[in-house]
Amino acid sequence: MGTTIHERISTTLRIAAIAGLASLTLAGCGGVKGAAVSNGALTETLRLAVHRGKYLFYHATFGGNGRTCETCHSAGGTTTGTAPNGMKLPSLANAAAIFPRAHGNGVWTLQDQLTHCVKGGLHGTPPAYDSKAMRDLVTYITSLAQGKPIDMGGTP
Ligand code: HEC
Repeated sequence: MGTTIHERISTTLRIAAIAGLASLTLAGCGGVKGAAVSNGALTETLRLAVHRGKYLFYHATFGGNGRTCETCHSAGGTTTGTAPNGMKLPSLANAAAIFPRAHGNGVWTLQDQLTHCVKGGLHGTPPAYDSKAMRDLVTYITSLAQGKPIDMGGTP
């Protein structure tokens, strides 16, 4: 059965509305991206976030058992680590290049991994997914992988 004129018009309107929304969204992203490339203040913002994330990595216990990320992931995560039970851990230098990875039926992001490590490793309260501390930690971990090729789902 063919579409009625009314259906065709409403489809056209819908497509136009979506296209309008998409161009608005792209324009918004373009603005931010342009600023990231050209604005030195944002570079400084990233540098500071890396610095705060590194500080958290070495010092934050998140109210847990006194461990920090550094307890298991040595040298700021740049070399292989050792868990308290003696288990060898991969360096985190590649972590940002291989996440997200599949986890059961879902997807496991770097934030999910950090949440898991704070709960399981530090026995602490993980920073909220969208918190400043989570962003800073993710920014630090990502800085370790600078220049590494993305290999989503790959091995450490
Ligand atoms: C008690 C030890 C322990 C502590 C403390 C710990 N982790 Fe982990 N971490 C592990 C283990 C074990 C793994 C390996 C996979 C797993 O069990 O999830 C891991 C894996 C990771 C990975 C993924 C590495 C990869 O490439 O697969 C990242 C990233 C990570 N940890 C970050 C952190 C951060 C950031 C902290 C601090 C908030 C932290 N970890 C604290 C034990 C720990």
